[in-house]
Amino acid sequence: QSARMTNLLGIEFAPMHLPLERRLQTLGVFYHVFLFLGAPLAVLCIAAWLYFNGYALVIAAYCAWLFWDWNSPYQGAYSSRYFQTLRIHKWFSRYFPLSIHPTAELPNDKNYLIGFHPHGVISISAYNFMSNGTGLLDRFPNINFHVCTLVGNFYLPLRREWMMLLGIINCSKESLRYVLDDTRTGQAAVLVVGGAEEALDAHPGRHVLTLKNRKGFIKLALKTGAHLVPCFGFGENDLYYQAANEQGSTLRKIQEWVKKLSGISPVIMHGRSIFTYNFGLLPFRKKLDTVLGAPIPVEKTENPSQEQIDELHELYISKLTQLFDEHKVRYGVPEEEELIIH
Ligand SMILES: *[C@@H]1O[C@H](CO)[C@@H](O)[C@H](O)[C@H]1NC(C)=O
Ligand SMILES: *[C@@H]1O[C@H](CO)[C@@H](O)[C@H](O)[C@H]1NC(C)=O
Repeated sequence: QSARMTNLLGIEFAPMHLPLERRLQTLGVFYHVFLFLGAPLAVLCIAAWLYFNGYALVIAAYCAWLFWDWNSPYQGAYSSRYFQTLRIHKWFSRYFPLSIHPTAELPNDKNYLIGFHPHGVISISAYNFMSNGTGLLDRFPNINFHVCTLVGNFYLPLRREWMMLLGIINCSKESLRYVLDDTRTGQAAVLVVGGAEEALDAHPGRHVLTLKNRKGFIKLALKTGAHLVPCFGFGENDLYYQAANEQGSTLRKIQEWVKKLSGISPVIMHGRSIFTYNFGLLPFRKKLDTVLGAPIPVEKTENPSQEQIDELHELYISKLTQLFDEHKVRYGVPEEEELIIH
């Protein structure tokens, strides 16, 4: 009886008595979403508390560290096995649950540029590559994974260090080149190719990618000789409901305009919260299956021609489409559903 949810004014409340494991899972997801959506306020509060309680020196020491550490987001960050194997990542992954399904080996005598699709609202599935939550670090112990994120995410004190301990780097061309430079091997950069544009197409049950004119990552792979790995996150678009915004609609036009000005997509969405099931910013509990494709060999080419870039881009799209088609039915997508690429 007590395990039933309560419906009040149309809001579905979570039951009061839930097993501890489920509460821990929700906590794991709350921490991650909070880090990206609510952390600025928390950092401001910590700084204010330190300042007004006579710990201004701590703030000064942090500033000195920041000055010294400023370049780390584009110099490979500093992944820490200790942070990546914390228990909270397991809780996070078991909430959905999130799983990774590699389809090939990644020998550590090469570097890899992994293209992750789709962006979804906040690319939850990219979490696979930040921690051992889904066991990826054990699966590929000799590969150093780096998820790339918007530069703006590094401007927040403490969050920047936390992200770098999970191996996250700046998504600029220079940062990627630094990591994929062929003086080292066993490095993998994970790029959410469709970016903010693709987030606007993150509707449940739909599979729409922004990829037709995204060729910068292909060029980068050619210049560095990093092998390209297509990767598809089934379920990523099912985590939030987003307001209807068909191409050409007024809402979409406003969103495109804001994106052009700020680089951020103003996605109008809702998920759930800790206490409610149909209202809030936490993602829904939906199964997530990330399929990691086989590496596409790339020969290092200092000055690739447009023709070489187009040819590899076409090959990448065909391998990605093949990956989607081969695995879709197993992960809950109807046989007739096709990948739409804009
Ligand atoms: C990583 O995850 C795997 C799979 O869940 C687990 O077997 C392994 O012990 C974990 N490794 C560490 C160092 O925690
Ligand atoms: C991101 O990288 C670019 C260079 O590629 C650099 O100018 C910028 O300062 C970096 N931002 C952060 C926060 O590291």
